Amino acid sequence: MGAMILLSIETSCDETAISVLKVAGDFPDAEYQIIGNALFSQVDIHKEFGGVFPTVAKREHINTIVPMLKKALDEAGLDLEKRSLSDTQKDYLKELLIREDTLAATLIDFSDRHGLPKIDYISVTCGPGLEPALWVGVNFAKALAYLSDAKVIASDHMEGHILASVFIDNKIAPVAFPALALLVSGGHTELILMTAWGEYTKVGQTRDDAVGEAFDKVARMLDLPYPGGPEIGRLAKMARSENLPEYVKLPQPMVNSGDLDFSFSGLKTAVRYAIADKKLSDAEKQALARDFEDAATAVLIKKSIKAIEKFTAKSFILGGGVSANTKLRADTANLNRNDLFPDLHIYIPDVKLSTDNSIMIALAGHARLEEAMSPNDFISQIKADGNKSL
Ligand code: KG4
Ligand code: ZN
Repeated sequence: MGAMILLSIETSCDETAISVLKVAGDFPDAEYQIIGNALFSQVDIHKEFGGVFPTVAKREHINTIVPMLKKALDEAGLDLEKRSLSDTQKDYLKELLIREDTLAATLIDFSDRHGLPKIDYISVTCGPGLEPALWVGVNFAKALAYLSDAKVIASDHMEGHILASVFIDNKIAPVAFPALALLVSGGHTELILMTAWGEYTKVGQTRDDAVGEAFDKVARMLDLPYPGGPEIGRLAKMARSENLPEYVKLPQPMVNSGDLDFSFSGLKTAVRYAIADKKLSDAEKQALARDFEDAATAVLIKKSIKAIEKFTAKSFILGGGVSANTKLRADTANLNRNDLFPDLHIYIPDVKLSTDNSIMIALAGHARLEEAMSPNDFISQIKADGNKSL
């Protein structure tokens, strides 16, 4: 088969992202060419509220998804086919996007003015994530599929994070199985055993907060802006370069629990107690951020070591937004630089692909191309699923 055009959509949390890829070959041996990539991060809007409110995220997705489509398509430079839509078509689009108020009108206007290129496949994140946010992407995919007659794949956000980590030089790396994936994001902390592409078993997960959530909450306690992950990393780095002494001894919850589960709410509470009602100096804040980062990464790495041993994993894949953390990246890279696992293949995502993006959703869609549905089937059968699980 010749190259196909795959358009991908990601709206699970607070980034609105659309990519256009030219794909030649079958998964996992294909060549991927990113010909258009547009991402709008809503962080500045959510900063005001100190976190992501799903209804605010939904509104922002509605406002920015067509501009992202325009940007991605402009970049891709594909021939657009202008066409005036009939009243029946317009009415149907309005019906598909009934809960996205202004979006139908914006898309109809876009189609009238610019038209659409020939798209073979659309891959859209259907979950997990914030449901009101996910629905914008899912319904937009329905509308685009209807307009372009593309086939649609209901993609999994976490599978996208896994694939982002092994996306090297526009190809999927030849991963040796069994592989273990440690997925760390704002909503998830889980260890996934992979025996082949598409064959996943969750072998460990958090029993309370996700590690990214703990980063964000600790950052709030230290009066740092949202999202807290990068801020904690920044302060921790200063503490390390200054060699600041330990501010407080923090627990490493569940390291000896005997299973592969995690817990981060106790660690977060320990930080809260350490601050109490004290006014911390900048140096104290830096030291505490470093202590927290040390404790959180230590738990992640120790549990990962147990899992790699237990399943004699040949590969280790780090993925999800928290994989942007410098300390976690360094400790992960060290897993095969000691006597423990000298032969372990380690995959850490490019920092640009660590946090949410739509390139990873294109890859997740291509990995499940055989599940692609006709526009009609997708429209009638697919729902956003906030709790979707691999
Ligand atoms: O995967 P992601 O972009 O969105 C979700 O699917 O949740 O992950 C977002 C999470 C947030 O909790 C954010 O604070 C965290 O990833 N994060 C980081 C860093 N960059 C983002 N955590 C630690 N260090 C970072 N550099
Ligand atoms: Zn994510």
